Amino acid sequence: MAVKKAKRIGVLTSGGDAPGLNAVVRAVVKAACGMGWEVLGIEDGFEGLLGEKSYRVLTAADVRGLLPRGGTILRTTNRGHFGGPRRMDVPPEQDPYHQAVRSIEELDLHGLITIGGEGTQRIALELYKMGAPVIGVPKTIDNDLAGTDRTFGFDTALLVATDAIDRLHTTAASHNRVMVLEVMGRHTGWIALHSGLAGGADIILIPEIPFDIELVANKVRERDASGSTFSIVVVAEGARPEDGTQLYVTGDRLGGVGNYVGRRLEELTGKETRVVVLGHIQRGGSPTPYDRLLSTRFGAAAVAAAANGVFGEMVSLRAQEIVTVPLAEATGHLKTVRPHSDLVRCGRSLGVSFGDE
Ligand code: F6P
Repeated sequence: MAVKKAKRIGVLTSGGDAPGLNAVVRAVVKAACGMGWEVLGIEDGFEGLLGEKSYRVLTAADVRGLLPRGGTILRTTNRGHFGGPRRMDVPPEQDPYHQAVRSIEELDLHGLITIGGEGTQRIALELYKMGAPVIGVPKTIDNDLAGTDRTFGFDTALLVATDAIDRLHTTAASHNRVMVLEVMGRHTGWIALHSGLAGGADIILIPEIPFDIELVANKVRERDASGSTFSIVVVAEGARPEDGTQLYVTGDRLGGVGNYVGRRLEELTGKETRVVVLGHIQRGGSPTPYDRLLSTRFGAAAVAAAANGVFGEMVSLRAQEIVTVPLAEATGHLKTVRPHSDLVRCGRSLGVSFGDE
């Protein structure tokens, strides 16, 4: 009697890290091994599929204790050979996409689970179009991936940012100061908006609503006049003044808008101002229970999709249920904050300034 060969799947983490990556890997391994499948952990994102290939077999023993651990045991690559638009003018042997598809075939993967944000899922979609059996899992602390209500990592980033706002409140009030907190959010203001509202910020500046620094200064003056002699400003790193100037630390690394806002507010209001850039603290450390649960559900659903032969899709959270959506729905555009959404209106009704009126 012919013995049925066990299926083998691959899993990789790609793009900037986010709390919950290890929890997804753990869920994938536990669910797949539970069905007698073999799991290969591809290292350093899609880079692990190039050249000599870099991967290792993951067993249930390898993922023991992983649920609360930040980062990714598989490591990740943010740009690498797949960064930027695919070049169509290179011969197949120099094309990383061709090499990756060949590696997936050579490794005899029944499915490849690609955990990442928009950039990752765009690469996955391209590989799918070339015949690779991919399944996406949505990750990013920025929560800006389309096709899903939530990405894992966002809740943990919110906890960190909200805690920072709480801490800044007490010191701001003690010194009658303006405190500016710059949070992540390259293209979208989800972290700034949610943490700003959860932390009771007075001013929230996000990329989707260009701000006028004079109006921001007016808000600080108004608060002073009403007896609130301190102000908390939360600004997303991608927020822009009305003239559209985007501020960078170096090259294409965003940053500097917090310092710009702080400097200008001090000039305009005469109030002592301090600036805190929260940076990668938002991406590190242990995931919250919400992110652990979401990551676990995503990982298990990705394996279920592979078992059902569902490829070219991304697992997604829709109205509290885990479903799958076509990768094309998750790529090509980002989920942005609607300037007239209920959250923004809620903030405005409580007197929060978005720097535009
Ligand atoms: O994960 C997305 C993000 O958090 C952006 O908000 C930010 O601009 C970017 O990562 C920074 O990533 P890195 O420093 O790893 O390039």
